[in-house]
Amino acid sequence: MKSLEGRVAIVTGGANGIGAGISDVLGSERARVAVADLDLAAAERSAAELTERGQEAIAVAVDVVERESVDRMAAAVLERWGRIDILAANAGIYPQATVEEIDDALFDRIFDVNLKGTLHSIQACLPAMRSRGYGRAVLTSSITGAFVGAEGFASYGASKTAMLGLMRGAALEVVGDGITINAILPGNVRTAGFEKLDQVYRDQIMRAIPMGRLAEAEDVGWAVRFLASEEAGYITGQSLVLDGGQLLPEGAS
Ligand code: NAI
Repeated sequence: MKSLEGRVAIVTGGANGIGAGISDVLGSERARVAVADLDLAAAERSAAELTERGQEAIAVAVDVVERESVDRMAAAVLERWGRIDILAANAGIYPQATVEEIDDALFDRIFDVNLKGTLHSIQACLPAMRSRGYGRAVLTSSITGAFVGAEGFASYGASKTAMLGLMRGAALEVVGDGITINAILPGNVRTAGFEKLDQVYRDQIMRAIPMGRLAEAEDVGWAVRFLASEEAGYITGQSLVLDGGQLLPEGAS
């Protein structure tokens, strides 16, 4: 597989957790990485770590919910490097609330970040990708919603499944421009966000993973790296599950 040298990648939610794993892997594969995050201080730390390792990286403040903010993110990357080849639309939230507990404000927030944020990110990167006839967008969806349900995550699962509908339509719209849009569907990944979920849920998940471990953020990073490669150019509108075998056992879901 060709090196990503010369490619420019934006990773939203790139400062922590899965996004940091994606940034690390793309950086180690020689892409120039814009670590774009709501948490600018954490993005700066992540970008500095990449730079210390000899990789090219910048930190960019973004709130994916705000269209203007996302447009400024793309403009900052274009000003710095003049191109956008790869978008990892990864920023997302997963607050736990049952159907009876969730109110409109929290429901809207989940959809604003996870779905509208993904739309804004794709929209902001498409003009640059189209202008060069090349682009790879990889969305971080989830097995939750698309394949399984989890108590407290009905609205979250709905938002992650909606991302797949967005992906399929968008993928077709840009299919003639050398741009692919795919999604990764992680099972459960060892991140600070995951560690904050309640212990009962986390214990249940650990028992359900045949490989006996959570995914590491880098496991997700390598899946993104594949879909972001030139060689994956014939794959579009697809979903790649990485879950340590969680969906495999009969009767598991
Ligand atoms: P995390 O909470 O550890 O990191 C998320 C990052 O996104 C943070 O740096 C945060 O500042 C940033 N962020 C949040 N809202 C933002 C906004 N409005 N604009 C820009 N940046 C924002 O979360 P984690 O676990 O790394 O999750 C990342 C993605 O992976 C999410 O989309 C999540 O739904 C998805 N996912 C996570 C799984 C897990 O087990 N951790 C499993 C499946 C999917």
